[in-house]
Amino acid sequence: MKVGVFDSGVGGLTVVKSLLEHRLFDEIIYYGDTARVPYGVKDQNTIIRYALEAVEFFKNFDIDLLIVACNTVSAYALNEMKAQAPFDVIGVVEPGILATKNTLSDPNADILILGTKATVASKAYETLLQAHGFTNVSAKATGLFVPIVEEGLYEGAVLESTMKHYFNNRTSPDAIILGCTHFPLIAESISAYFNNKSHLIH
Ligand code: DGL
Repeated sequence: MKVGVFDSGVGGLTVVKSLLEHRLFDEIIYYGDTARVPYGVKDQNTIIRYALEAVEFFKNFDIDLLIVACNTVSAYALNEMKAQAPFDVIGVVEPGILATKNTLSDPNADILILGTKATVASKAYETLLQAHGFTNVSAKATGLFVPIVEEGLYEGAVLESTMKHYFNNRTSPDAIILGCTHFPLIAESISAYFNNKSHLIH
């Protein structure tokens, strides 16, 4: 089976890594739109336009399935992509919700969602988590992490001060949802910032 994986940049490679570990597909074609990253600061129409261009790109490769390894695109453009694609299209938000359900048994657990500005504004995670009975959910747009990851700064002073900027005074949540596929690359640093007290879900 041949699969396409799409992200705005390098973030979707975290999904590719997991696909390779599980040997799920015979062939993987990756499209990272590094010319136009970040998507998370763009408006909905632009995100949809870029997403439909990705569908057109993958039409050249006779894929069986397209994995949208980008939360921003998953939150805004999945239906439009499904309508235009001759192959199946799946996103990453619903699997993230499933992983949360499998990790947390307490519906009152303190859950912090991290994502791009666009993903947080969409409330895609909050809406689904609340529908699954989780009551204590908050979200924080942490878009500066995206260029930091694209730059390969997975640890060090720049990342530390950016985390401080975003998380200052925040007590360790029970769980942190890495609602952007770039963020697993800095998971260790985020976990350490919260003294390794939070479950990281991605
Ligand atoms: N990796 C993407 C996501 O999961 C988007 C990062 C960006 O382009 O802003 O949302």
